[in-house]
Amino acid sequence: MALYIADAAAMERLGAAIGARLAPGSRVFLYGALGAGKTTLVRGLLRARGHPGPVRSPTYTLVESYVLAGAPVHHFDLYRLGAARELELIGARDYFDGESLCLVEWPEHGEALLGRADLELRIAIDGQARRVSWQARPAALARALAALAAEFPDPADP
Ligand SMILES: Nc1ncnc2c1ncn2[C@@H]1O[C@H](COP(=O)(O)OP(=O)(O)OP(=O)(O)O)[C@@H](O)[C@H]1O
Ligand SMILES: [Mg+2]
Repeated sequence: MALYIADAAAMERLGAAIGARLAPGSRVFLYGALGAGKTTLVRGLLRARGHPGPVRSPTYTLVESYVLAGAPVHHFDLYRLGAARELELIGARDYFDGESLCLVEWPEHGEALLGRADLELRIAIDGQARRVSWQARPAALARALAALAAEFPDPADP
């Protein structure tokens, strides 16, 4: 199953919808090429949780933390991570505290230290559009996301 995301605004809406369905402490991995829309999805999630400011990929700092009314959100971008142990140096383990929401772009660069994701999102580029598929570990989350398909119907998969 894949969700059809027509434009960046739809990707932000998807981020908001996913964010509303995640349990505290969830770990989300975002896969997809450069410019696929990972940060755009995260931006939508953060906006929906009340973050008013800009959201950029923390490519050089590896992680940006947002203290919001609910649980903290940590947004990782591991594109420039040289070795998984660099994650240890920034104290990454402390971010995965069971309460904070952790969103990780380029998780494949830090696999050794990240543990398992509750949700893996895969974004495929299809011209202007994107197709987003996922794997959710908690059954309740899988059901909640399956229900989203009605909101983002794939025109190629009626
Ligand atoms: N359907 C769409 N969904 C998401 N983004 C889209 C879509 N169509 C166009 N875009 C544009 O594609 C770009 C996606 O950039 P974004 O920073 O979100 O990608 P990214 O996956 O985080 O890349 P990187 O790996 O470099 O961090 C934005 O400029 C966005 O406006
Ligand atoms: Mg990004």
